[in-house]
Amino acid sequence: MSSPVSYELEGNIGVISVDSPPVNALSHAVRQGLLEAITTAQSDASEAIVIICAGRTFIAGADITEFGKPMQSPWLPELLDTIEASSKLVVAAIHGTALGGGFETALAAHYRCALPSAKVGFPEVKLGLLPGAGGTQRTPRLAGVQAALDLITSGAPISAGLAEKAGLIDKMIDGDLREAAIGWAGELIADGAPIRRSSEQVVPEHEATLFDEYRAGLARRTRGQIAPANIVSAVEAAATLPFEEGMAVERKLFMECMDSSQSAGMRHIFFAERQASKIDGLAKETPKRAVASVGIIGGGTMGGGIAMSFANAGIPVTMIEISDEALQRGLSIIERNYAGSVKRGKLSEEKAAACRALISGSVDYAALADVDLVVEAVFEDPDLKKKIFGWLDTVCKPGAILATNTSYQDVDEIAAATSRPEDVIGMHFFSPAHIMKLLEVVRGEKTADDVLATVMALAKKIRKVAVVSGVCYGFIGNRMLRPYAKTAQLLLLEGASPQQVDSAMEAWGMAMGPMRVFDLAGLDIGYTARKALSDEQKGDPKSYRVPDLLVEAGRLGQKSGAGFYAYDDNRRPSPDPAVDEMIATAAADLGVERREVSDEEIVERLISSLVDEGHKILDEGIAQRSSDIDIVYIYGYGFPASRGGPMFYADQQ
Ligand code: 3HC
Ligand code: NAI
Repeated sequence: MSSPVSYELEGNIGVISVDSPPVNALSHAVRQGLLEAITTAQSDASEAIVIICAGRTFIAGADITEFGKPMQSPWLPELLDTIEASSKLVVAAIHGTALGGGFETALAAHYRCALPSAKVGFPEVKLGLLPGAGGTQRTPRLAGVQAALDLITSGAPISAGLAEKAGLIDKMIDGDLREAAIGWAGELIADGAPIRRSSEQVVPEHEATLFDEYRAGLARRTRGQIAPANIVSAVEAAATLPFEEGMAVERKLFMECMDSSQSAGMRHIFFAERQASKIDGLAKETPKRAVASVGIIGGGTMGGGIAMSFANAGIPVTMIEISDEALQRGLSIIERNYAGSVKRGKLSEEKAAACRALISGSVDYAALADVDLVVEAVFEDPDLKKKIFGWLDTVCKPGAILATNTSYQDVDEIAAATSRPEDVIGMHFFSPAHIMKLLEVVRGEKTADDVLATVMALAKKIRKVAVVSGVCYGFIGNRMLRPYAKTAQLLLLEGASPQQVDSAMEAWGMAMGPMRVFDLAGLDIGYTARKALSDEQKGDPKSYRVPDLLVEAGRLGQKSGAGFYAYDDNRRPSPDPAVDEMIATAAADLGVERREVSDEEIVERLISSLVDEGHKILDEGIAQRSSDIDIVYIYGYGFPASRGGPMFYADQQ
């Protein structure tokens, strides 16, 4: 088999090229090829060496598919030591993304150049890992301790320009990277530039208290995660120990992370996320419709956020509301959201203005005559939605995709209100829609393949993680939430307090416990929905008696200042004895004997309720695969990525 790494002499420069699609990951074959090439270059006519990659990117990291399997020699740290020890000057030429082990390879070179469009960084922490091939030791030597900690603990890549400012890149290249890198290597030799090994640099001075302070701040943000804490210890080792000893510390901490269930869960999510975009039975070459403009119906909580998601990706949006007043209200919320992003430094003023300018409004459906896609986001009223789809059928051009953001309604029934059900699909965004990454794409019985393929591709363009769901009440995520909510109510009646339920779930890793979620969403929504149901449809009163009592006492959740908790003016919750009394009364009325409920029982019963429903969803073919359900819960419901999602967690148990 031919090697993915080639080596050739170009004048007096040895050029090592990695060509291992799709992302030049450091598989065994790539490591072996790099070792052979660097060894060859030591004894040929070359005077300097350039490492460059073919395709869309520089090396994007270690090959994650090899993790968890026995490691084959050469190991990456040893390979990088060999590159750094080269007796000939080594230049790394970066385009695309130099990530993780890829950036570590670049740091083992003696000089680094990059295209301005390139990005570099250490995403390992998002896999529950730390850089394991010298990244924690070389980065602080070049960029200082603070910059190294920020870069490695955040996992977010930075632009080549920022990396240059930090001392991690030496030269920016305009034009042809290969030609310029070879030319620069020649200049370095001609100028007698020294072989500059990162490992031999001295870590710049820093405050003695920096590590302890950083650790404390990080612990608050990353509750219970091993990798961030280990990163701080590894960088501290760089600052306090000779290079070889620091490398040994890094290796030990890296292996600790690699062997953890946290990293196993996060690696599962990495592949699950990429798998979710693949649709069983849909050919890869399925044609896609062009989506150059979008209409949104309803400028409320969801419509505004959905409009921003499209505008942020450069797609113009027309928003329809029922009145000028409602339209202005919707547009001004969007404006406030953009202003907030600018204030928090998330968006430049120019970019915010450009996005805002892409959103226009109207009270006339005729404004949707030419749009390629419509997303309906009006009240959750099935009759209203059907009426609107009937109007869309008469207004929209042939081939326009008609999507509904409904949380629960039957997409097939909505599609039947049109003469073109094949163009109808569900696009279920999550609140706040411009921030939450999840998009459930609901495939109706008659949804055309090209409509589905188009919406999945569009999701990627607007930076959402899309999961396909079949039609059922609540689709994947909200359907699983129902038994979860019922179990939470039973736990209260049996003896747990709202704060015990929440703190047990939050300590386990959920972003927010169920009671706080109910209070945030508003208890009146479920109450009103229940009013329309018969006793039989409502089911066991134990699952809703307490929230009914709360609403009837005027406690609608955060918005009314009280729900399962009492809230102060800053919406900070505190336990409320009045709620404990209500729960005790409800338990007595319903004949539930109260007892001590342990935190372990709370976690086990709540997670099992999700998993049991997840299995039904799989059996019915509503979800394509169990890892899709994990993605829904990680990106839509604050499930901890380090647990790998409910289905992965259940498998591990
Ligand atoms: N190992 C193995 N496969 C990888 C990979 C990696 N590091 N990175 C990407 N892939 C695969 C994906 O699974 C996907 O496969 P598929 O087509 O079969 O689904 C394919 O490459 C394309 O990936 P994307 O769909 O993500 O492509 P994009 O163009 O959207 O993004 C990217 C490219 C920014 C490089 C993105 O793939 C990415 O972020 N990759 C992961 C980078 C990473 O985490 N690196 C660190 C690894 S850990 C490490 O290096 C440890 C070291 O310190 C010892
Ligand atoms: P909302 O009440 O905040 O907004 C609905 C908007 O639709 C209002 O501004 C209203 O004026 C407008 N509207 C009503 N009739 C209209 C018509 N005929 N033409 C144009 N506009 C009209 O509601 P929200 O929360 O934004 O929900 C909208 C939809 O999104 C619902 O189907 C809901 O189930 C779904 N959804 C809501 C989520 C949430 O967390 N709020 C999450 C995901 C989906």
